[in-house]
Amino acid sequence: MKIYEMSNQQRIDYLVAQDIIDQEQADFLAKKQPLSEDLANSLSENQLGIFGLPYGIATDFLINGKEYVVPMSIEEPSVIAAASNGAKRIKANGGFHVTTSQHIMYGQIVLEETSSEILQKLEASQADIIDAADQSRQSLLKRGGGVTSLTFEKVGDVTEILLGVNTVDAMGANIVNSMLETIAPQISTLTGQNVLCAILSNSGKSQLVQAEARVKFADLQTKQMSGQEVAERIVRLTNFAKHSVMRSITHNKGIMNGIDAVLLATGNDFRAEEAAAHSFYAQDGYQPFSNWQIKDGQLVGTLELPIEIGSVGGAIKALPMAQLSLAIMNINNSQELQAVIGSVGLANNLSALRALVTTGIQAGHMSLQSKSLAVSAGAKGDEITEISKQLNQSKEYTLEKASELLEKLRKQ
Ligand code: MEV
Repeated sequence: MKIYEMSNQQRIDYLVAQDIIDQEQADFLAKKQPLSEDLANSLSENQLGIFGLPYGIATDFLINGKEYVVPMSIEEPSVIAAASNGAKRIKANGGFHVTTSQHIMYGQIVLEETSSEILQKLEASQADIIDAADQSRQSLLKRGGGVTSLTFEKVGDVTEILLGVNTVDAMGANIVNSMLETIAPQISTLTGQNVLCAILSNSGKSQLVQAEARVKFADLQTKQMSGQEVAERIVRLTNFAKHSVMRSITHNKGIMNGIDAVLLATGNDFRAEEAAAHSFYAQDGYQPFSNWQIKDGQLVGTLELPIEIGSVGGAIKALPMAQLSLAIMNINNSQELQAVIGSVGLANNLSALRALVTTGIQAGHMSLQSKSLAVSAGAKGDEITEISKQLNQSKEYTLEKASELLEKLRKQ
């Protein structure tokens, strides 16, 4: 039986049978209580309840020679199916090849004024400032991280102090912000200047992931179109995105569909990632995050993107579902998680582009959406599958049609 044909419990049992989760994790999933009241109340303010989102798995990811089942949390139908679908075509040809850079998070301290004297004082105390920042986070030093750079610059009429920190497996926001707030008073005293602000930068320029995937033409063909034609059309559409901001925005949104879903499932800060990713491609006019070209008779996709995440600390540690997601993927460090996230983005991109240049996305999208329309119309249990089937036959994907079909079904 295919995973998409299984019931919820069968999928959980399948993960146990495959040794992907243990019985305790399976019981936790089956209980469907992702968060305790106490934890929910302590994570954010004025809590009323727990917001639910579907949590599923994308399959067939082969990344740097290791197989992954990837947990994703998302409300949009077809994103998990598209990720699995793209990954399967890529797996058939060796899987994803991904490299990651060191995990450097930057932070800025801004002084209210600037002068060559201020800059000289800062330069003279550079080593002391680095030491103070490092000493405030001894545990980071023990894990092999710490300050990697400290630079000073006149920016307009203020002074910018830019701190680079290797945060190892942590996303780094709290580490960098508390380092900055530790050294800010010292810097203020040293320079006789007021601090305008001390805050991390969500630039992910030193947290880059490069993913590559190759697909054989034969794995792209549809009933109506040869694989080579599909590949050529994917390349043309990608090239169009390079010249059309309107298109590159949507091209990138399709990539973020997959990326955000893994970020949510792993308790990562998707707002930080969105800011990092889009800003990286907005330096010289907005550009697509990925490129597709034909090389050696194959379709080759590449994606280079800042992936600003962590695999330890903060909400990732606190949220039981995030911990479960890391266990499902058997993640050993943040760079491995970055590699998975980059691969998911490229897989979703491939599926979206293939659908767009062949049948269009609505056929697949709406047939998956039919289930949620059935639920919105009030269908329960077996009625959901039946109404979804009838909606697919009618090809009329509206709430009115779903309600009409449900009323008829209940009269039978
Ligand atoms: C829909 O959520 C995502 C797509 O629009 C992406 C794309 O157009 O490449 C299908």
